[in-house]
Amino acid sequence: MNFTPFDRRVRAAFIGLGRIYDLNRLAYVDNDDVEVVALVDPSETRRLERGRDWPGAATFSSIDELASSGLAIDAVEVLLPIALHEQGVMECLANGWHVNLQKPLTSDLASASRMIDAANEHDLQLRVMENYLFYEPLVRLKHVIDSGELGPISGYHLKMVASGRGGWEVPGDTYQWQFDQAQRGKGILVFDDGWHKFSTALWLFGPIREVRAWIGSTEVIPGIAIDAPTTIVWEHENGVRGVWDITLAIDMYLRSDYYTNDERWEVTGQRGFARVNRCTGRGLQQPSFEVYLDGEMLSHHALDDDWASSFRDSGRHWLRWLRDGKGPLWWDALDAVEVLRVALAAYESSERGGVGVDPNSLH
Ligand SMILES: NC(=O)c1ccc[n+]([C@@H]2O[C@H](COP(=O)([O-])OP(=O)(O)OC[C@H]3O[C@@H](n4cnc5c(N)ncnc54)[C@H](O)[C@@H]3O)[C@@H](O)[C@H]2O)c1
Repeated sequence: MNFTPFDRRVRAAFIGLGRIYDLNRLAYVDNDDVEVVALVDPSETRRLERGRDWPGAATFSSIDELASSGLAIDAVEVLLPIALHEQGVMECLANGWHVNLQKPLTSDLASASRMIDAANEHDLQLRVMENYLFYEPLVRLKHVIDSGELGPISGYHLKMVASGRGGWEVPGDTYQWQFDQAQRGKGILVFDDGWHKFSTALWLFGPIREVRAWIGSTEVIPGIAIDAPTTIVWEHENGVRGVWDITLAIDMYLRSDYYTNDERWEVTGQRGFARVNRCTGRGLQQPSFEVYLDGEMLSHHALDDDWASSFRDSGRHWLRWLRDGKGPLWWDALDAVEVLRVALAAYESSERGGVGVDPNSLH
């Protein structure tokens, strides 16, 4: 694919102005790499509200309306419900716009292939936004693993408790598409949030050769089920094993500025361990990153561990990339397909009673 970096500010549009817009927008604020020129959402209320952030931007109720306006656009920030990702991305690519798409890429491999083929055909970048790779405690964790100071890695575990109390307001229509998505078999914890967990696993330890899963279901209100309790185990090609357990504590209050997920990553090596104590929520009031070696715990007290900063930095990485074309996209669309494969392998394993599934065996 040919890509010529922009030698001027990128002209950008937001497509979808819902809940996560509040964090994605942070990359665009006070950023000389970009100029926000358009906002798109069918909701007039959201167009009016978000329009106040960008007084110079034009607003539109659909991608088609923006394209027909003749306004010049270089790149779009696609923040649509998952079921609309493929259609929205195809329209944007057909209009000649580079795309930064919120994860998950899409729900199945055929859809992913169509999107990647379209990006290649139009010679445009399709990036899948993964903010966790920019969360400073996780970046420190990767640095410690790669430095070898923990010794050879023996294994690691991820924990998540999803709670129902605390955090920011999530609009009813956002929950509605998440529940519809869950009805189609891709739940909010394993698929939507799980994307981040599988991403960090691939980023930390490389390709995965086998996944085993036991995906549960708990009805939280009549007709609405959440995909927990769930346990997913995997083995990387380098032999390191990871496990992620998801527990639901629906009545537990969790202090959070965002979603109420209490999350941990703990990596154990032959000499010690390193642990990220929280991410989205503010569960443990301990330093967000700690390293244990030779009987001593090193605690990091001054990291930028506000989850929102990871959106800012992931978005800035993309916008800088459009200006200089340097380094990996984190993730490009092919990397994202590997994440999707791990998620789909977990579903396949669970459906088949927890047997081992090689993500590369899925077609
Ligand atoms: N990285 C993360 O941690 C994270 C967190 C939350 C959500 N997300 C992802 O971000 C995406 C959006 O999630 P959200 O929670 O903001 O959803 P949301 O429902 O709050 O927002 C989606 C917006 O898209 C608008 N929309 C619907 N159809 C449209 C169309 N055809 N054209 C333009 N706009 C349209 C809706 O009106 C709504 O304002 C999803 O892919 C979700 O998985 C990622």
